[in-house]
Amino acid sequence: MKDSDSIDPPEQCVGAVILAAGQGTRMRSALPKVLHPVAGRPMLLHVAHLARVLGCQPIVAVVGHQAEQVRQAAGDSLAFVEQSPQLGTGHAVAQARPALADRVERVLVLYGDAPLATAETLRSLLQAGAGRALALLTAELSNPRGYGRIVRAEGRVVGLVEEAEASEAIRAIGEVFSGVLCAEAPWLWTHLATLQPHPNGEFYLTDLVRMAALEGLPIGAVQPAQPEEIMGINDRAQLAQANQVLWERKRRDLMAAGVTLLDPGSTFVDAEVLVGQDTIIHPNTYLRGRTVVGQGCELGPGTLIQDSQLGDRCRVVMSVVEGAELAERVQVGPFAHLRPGARIEADVELGNFSEVKASVVGAGSKAHHFSYLGDAVLGKNVNVGAGTITCNYDGVRKHRTVVGDNVFIGSDTMLVAPVALGDGARTGAGAVVTRDVAPEQLVVGVPARPVPGKGKQADAKETEPRGQP
Ligand code: UD1
Ligand code: CA
Repeated sequence: MKDSDSIDPPEQCVGAVILAAGQGTRMRSALPKVLHPVAGRPMLLHVAHLARVLGCQPIVAVVGHQAEQVRQAAGDSLAFVEQSPQLGTGHAVAQARPALADRVERVLVLYGDAPLATAETLRSLLQAGAGRALALLTAELSNPRGYGRIVRAEGRVVGLVEEAEASEAIRAIGEVFSGVLCAEAPWLWTHLATLQPHPNGEFYLTDLVRMAALEGLPIGAVQPAQPEEIMGINDRAQLAQANQVLWERKRRDLMAAGVTLLDPGSTFVDAEVLVGQDTIIHPNTYLRGRTVVGQGCELGPGTLIQDSQLGDRCRVVMSVVEGAELAERVQVGPFAHLRPGARIEADVELGNFSEVKASVVGAGSKAHHFSYLGDAVLGKNVNVGAGTITCNYDGVRKHRTVVGDNVFIGSDTMLVAPVALGDGARTGAGAVVTRDVAPEQLVVGVPARPVPGKGKQADAKETEPRGQP
């Protein structure tokens, strides 16, 4: 079976048009509707991703309402055309013509607010449309209200009637149009140009169906495996449903790929997250954004990991990890907080109430209890005593703390940045370190001072007989 995310070779020259000009009033939101995230990704980008997976090129979004905001959020992953005023779905697709021009043989029309179709379903639509002027994605719904109805005669599609214009008999039809279709490009452009406005002033894409039927052209029709795939998102309730659908799909994908979910219903993994085999996820755990988790990790319970990379065999319990990078076998929690820019090397242990921000923690180092490491670089095998704080902020600027390898930081040490501790340095409990500490030197007190005889020179003397400099 084909991996749903593997990109198809662009054998057919199919261009995609994503309709996203509508206002989305029912969302009651300052954010444009198509930018609301579903399973961690703006719905428009889900749709664009699908088009990309299908090998569509170019992918053109038709924008109108809050066009600038939509453009900026989508970045350069998409081409844009503006539709102003918005005169209906047929008018919207026509706006994309210059952007697709003669570069494509076929056009796939998608809606920016309908992110639930699977790549498999759209592939079968493209197959059904091969050699045909038009093919539609339809679905049989128990409640077809609001959708255009598919009219068939002797099994063949012969018409499409919008709900507002439908008779009682037509409204009783359960088969609806999803909005998604594919069409032969030359046929599409010539027929779009002949659309007539409806009484509300709009040009309907769906009138193409009647045109094709009148010309005696066979119209392809494909239904998805699950009717939910055609769901459009118009309000917050549908947004919630769509989130549930994509999270549920992700759970099934993860389990199929060898990830254990102890309580799937309370495990929320965003669409773009990757999780390695034999990782175990405990209840109440959220993996969000662009997170990548290695193999054999154990995450949760009660854990939030966002936009972070975890190597193999990491363990994160009851903790929050955001924008962090963890190498192999890192142990986090309970109750730790790794913030953006935390780079944690292999075999590090960060325990109860440890916070790390914009810092490197070297391999094998430990901060087991109550600590804050901010704007710091720690070497290997550093022991961070309970209550250690990098005082990185003087009220105006942030300053750096640099700690060498094998440093032992006594409990309740304040490292007043900027400050550096050489390899093997030690601090006494309660030390307030305001000046750099030489390698192997012990400092104590407030402010911390070197303890005579507990430094490099003393050590050097001791080691001299063994031939060390
Ligand atoms: C449309 C279909 C209907 C189908 C339904 C599925 C038409 C006339 N009707 O109806 O048969 O069952 O979708 O959801 O096509 N848009 C633009 N520019 C416009 C108008 C719309 O970009 O001028 C975009 C909207 O942002 C939206 C999509 O097109 O993403 C659909 O528009 P909408 O007004 O919701 O169409 P429906 O009335 O739902
Ligand atoms: Ca709609």
